[in-house]
Amino acid sequence: MQFPVKHVLACALLAFGATVAHAQTVIKFSHVVAQDTPKGKAAEFFAKKAEELTGGKVKVEVHANSALYKDKEEMEALQLGAVQMLAPSLAKFGPLGVKEFEVFDLPFIFDNRDDLHKVTTGPVGQKLLDKLQKRGITGLAYWDNGFKVFSSNKPIHSVADYKGQKYRIQSSKVLEAEIRALGGIPQVIAFGETYQALQTGVVDATENPPSNFYTQKMHEVQKHVSMTNHGYLGYAVIVNKKFWDGLDATVRGQLEEAMKQATAYANQIAQDENDQSLEAVKKSGKTTIYTPTAEERNALKKALVPVHKQMESRIGKDVIQDVYQATG
Ligand code: LMR
Repeated sequence: MQFPVKHVLACALLAFGATVAHAQTVIKFSHVVAQDTPKGKAAEFFAKKAEELTGGKVKVEVHANSALYKDKEEMEALQLGAVQMLAPSLAKFGPLGVKEFEVFDLPFIFDNRDDLHKVTTGPVGQKLLDKLQKRGITGLAYWDNGFKVFSSNKPIHSVADYKGQKYRIQSSKVLEAEIRALGGIPQVIAFGETYQALQTGVVDATENPPSNFYTQKMHEVQKHVSMTNHGYLGYAVIVNKKFWDGLDATVRGQLEEAMKQATAYANQIAQDENDQSLEAVKKSGKTTIYTPTAEERNALKKALVPVHKQMESRIGKDVIQDVYQATG
């Protein structure tokens, strides 16, 4: 039997159309923390919303716990397009050449979450995200984690207690200066290697919010936590710009909506997640939790605030001033 050419062409076009209609865009979303953390949960939330709002046109594959890439590698993977989405902590943008984000690492720059949100939800936060464009990256949102606490195998009460210890830090020059201001020795180590570094004594101490501390089992290898809340740790959700700009405008709009909802969710659960993790650390009985006295915390603040001035030339005096002004 012979089909008229017109009919064959029509069938071929139909088949092609069907394939196109069913082509699914995959977003690989890589991150380094456990699933059971503010970032881990928000990433899962985004994945679900994105699929729902795009009617299945987009599938988000979340790879948690450094399963795909560690800190440094994931930034490279994003720029190369091997993954499309990340949510690195704001302390990890320096190696990318965007040093201004280190303003978030300045010790005692935010008194509380409200102060922080004045920056992340306002023009100062947006201006910082815009700086990523020149690196081929689009910044979509800020997600909260929380305020960091110091941990060690020795009790850390007075400023003198910090001296001479080796600290695992994230790849931020501000954090390096912070540790040096305390007389400590900073060492940049990937998040995924931190537990082992603490376990084997490569470093003695570290800093992180309780949610990361507990879910990485650091309480098994750190005997003391001091509730210093001396600095903030949060995230910028970022995408490969070329990938993002290449999306169908409607789909991109739907993903923006999914991100808006995921951001609200992330920021709503962050404090609770940290409170629960702190309780779990207490319950484990493996780590003592110390709350510094007002004098001890003031002494710590006095030792650390000079880091603001010291880091002016790196971060930009204007950026630091913008944050001071936004937080009033
Ligand atoms: C760290 O490396 O300590 C954090 O940035 C991990 C994270 O993503 O919360």
